[in-house]
Amino acid sequence: MSVLLETRNVTKIHRPGTRAEVRALDDVSLSVESGSCVAFTGPSGSGKSTLLALLGALERPSHGVVLFMDRDLHKDSDVELTRIRRKMGFIFQDFALIPSLAIWENITYPLIPRGMSARERLTLAQSLLDELGLPDKTYERPQELSGGEQQRVAIARALAGRPEVILADEATSNLDDAAALELIAVLKKTHAAGTTLILSTHDPRMLAMAETVYRLNSGRLASTNC
Ligand SMILES: Nc1ncnc2c1ncn2[C@@H]1O[C@H](COP(=O)(O)OP(=O)(O)O)[C@@H](O)[C@H]1O
Ligand SMILES: [Mg+2]
Repeated sequence: MSVLLETRNVTKIHRPGTRAEVRALDDVSLSVESGSCVAFTGPSGSGKSTLLALLGALERPSHGVVLFMDRDLHKDSDVELTRIRRKMGFIFQDFALIPSLAIWENITYPLIPRGMSARERLTLAQSLLDELGLPDKTYERPQELSGGEQQRVAIARALAGRPEVILADEATSNLDDAAALELIAVLKKTHAAGTTLILSTHDPRMLAMAETVYRLNSGRLASTNC
């Protein structure tokens, strides 16, 4: 198997040089194989979200490097970085849907810069909504949906770009049991189809999916199950 993502001695300091400085990650080195499922767990504030944001090129490390397919993410130009981000899909704890957009638009607005027409985007959104069991929600707004339904829309948005890797940050923590199980089933199916999964979670059902579980403590990798 090849390495998809790697961090080498990554440290992330928020608000550097101020009295509120926080070392959110401290000298973290790890690699994620292509096609694997990796989970990060650890107490609140241990650095899970920061690590996912760095792996997903949403934030820059203060020290160290993040590599995607052996390329240093932050040596690349912004154009190249945008191209790499398209290979990644994000699912956030709070769903992060846009209230003013209809469901089909929420799912497909990231595809607008790729030149996809509205008609093509609507067709794609409809097929993802069918697959995820929400066929009649196409024209509704996020606030008209339950939490579980909103999270399924967020998954549809992540899947719409056919990513190589899905990064899911505490994706079940705002869901009831039934909705969490549905989300896990979708993630399992996606993983079985070859997509790499990177999860941050406390949920034992999510942790059970992962081939490798890393534990974070105060920004440091404390242990791993492998
Ligand atoms: N944007 C930010 N600005 C300042 N501090 C932050 C920011 N994001 C996270 N932190 C701090 O960094 C530490 C790690 O946070 P986070 O990565 O969100 O942990 P977790 O996801 O495990 O709860 C915490 O102390 C948090 O308060
Ligand atoms: Mg977090």
